[in-house]
Amino acid sequence: MSHQVSVWRAAQLVGVARGVLQQQVREGVLELNDSMVSTEALLRLYPKAQLEESGMLERVVQIRDEAFGKRVRERMLPSQEVLSQRLFSQSQDLGNVRRHLQRYHELVVSLQKAIRQQVIGHPHDTAWTALEQQATQGLAKVLATDSVDILEVMDDMLNVMTAQVTVHPSGHQFAVEGHSSLLQSGLHAGLRLNYGCGNGSCGMCKVRVISDEVAKTQHYDYPLSETEKAQGYTLMCCHTAASSDLTLEMLEAMGPQDIPQQEIVAKVRALTELAPNTRLLQLQTPRTHRLRFLAGQSVSLGYASPDQGDAQASYPVASCPCDDRNLLFFVARDGTDSLAQQVFSGNLRCGAAVTVRGPSGSFVLSEGHRPLVFAACDLGFAPIKSLIEHALALDAVPSISLFWLAMRADGHFQTNLCRAWSEALDNFEYELVTDPDVVIGAKQIVQAMRADLFDIDCDFYLCGPAMFVNTLHDDLRTAGVPAAQILMQEQ
Ligand code: FES
Repeated sequence: MSHQVSVWRAAQLVGVARGVLQQQVREGVLELNDSMVSTEALLRLYPKAQLEESGMLERVVQIRDEAFGKRVRERMLPSQEVLSQRLFSQSQDLGNVRRHLQRYHELVVSLQKAIRQQVIGHPHDTAWTALEQQATQGLAKVLATDSVDILEVMDDMLNVMTAQVTVHPSGHQFAVEGHSSLLQSGLHAGLRLNYGCGNGSCGMCKVRVISDEVAKTQHYDYPLSETEKAQGYTLMCCHTAASSDLTLEMLEAMGPQDIPQQEIVAKVRALTELAPNTRLLQLQTPRTHRLRFLAGQSVSLGYASPDQGDAQASYPVASCPCDDRNLLFFVARDGTDSLAQQVFSGNLRCGAAVTVRGPSGSFVLSEGHRPLVFAACDLGFAPIKSLIEHALALDAVPSISLFWLAMRADGHFQTNLCRAWSEALDNFEYELVTDPDVVIGAKQIVQAMRADLFDIDCDFYLCGPAMFVNTLHDDLRTAGVPAAQILMQEQ
């Protein structure tokens, strides 16, 4: 009988984005039974997942490619304590299954003996003879060794290496790998979790464990009451999953309105020249005070220069909320921007304190399963980059397309990143357009989109100067894209 796995696990097993499998389910290529996928159907679609001819672990790690083996060895292994807890719980399950099987076997053998007696006692009764034959053949079939279902083997192995967490009431799922806490794992998976300090003192990441076990990963000061403990409450930032499947109850942010305003003093960790007039500013927050924000949002940055007064400006965060301590910003040379002046004059240096206030803005991903199309003009790439990284973390979209217009002489200052995404992901494609005229450039992007996207049902995210986003918006609307599927951010 074919083994059944969730779509989430199926994507892990065959190494594709969950959104790709979900799209195949919608197209009828892959069948779902009670939200589960059969490994047999999965192997038909992804026949490369075949067993090699060597030892057990090696066989499993070689199935997909080196990446799978590397992941298992380097990233997925949890601490020894957690590993032994998961192995213990899996051994208990295995023991129960063995006991049941043994009893069933004894029952069938005793029934077979009883039938034999009936056959001997009633040699002319064909019904007893037929029943005996059925029992003998059935038992032989059960005892015959089938070929190994490789995806089932991989699933069992992943059950020990990584835990699968299901969130109620949203139904979101995420994996806990290696030594990661529940909070880190949930954020890496792109979930909009509720949290504050990240180190066990504020209590904001409190969730209720509905089923299975968690294991403590670090000391915490926040005092959970005896009642809360009895009800199964725990802190996500200080615990990991001790069992292979864990169900948690928690509230997730629905949108920008659920993200609190914060003020954090961060340090400049690096300032890198991306192009003559573009710098990458990397800020690092204290371990105990991270920025909670949604991809696509902006913050206000303030720097009090000892000799040149205060500088302040608003910038979109160019990094993923899943890395809430390391915040990236693209800064362009601009005489009207006091912070940019500090950056380009060399006044703002590594180690300097920068006050981060926010977040603000509603240019964020909406939940859905449509392919995503992003269009950016110049530094409009900053929030688009954050959105793309968030979408990649969510792993739930069938495909991502990026169109980037460069009007400035600095061009596409992160071409390598676009190339890396494209090389690493089957479902990502990009097109770079260069033109000093915003309308001509936007029209070129429209043409490129028209070539292969307008007849597909996509969600569009546009960011750049008003003329850029309006030109694209009007063309998309003319092509019949519903207004609700176009989100714009003027810069
Ligand atoms: S985030 Fe503050 S206690 Fe977990």
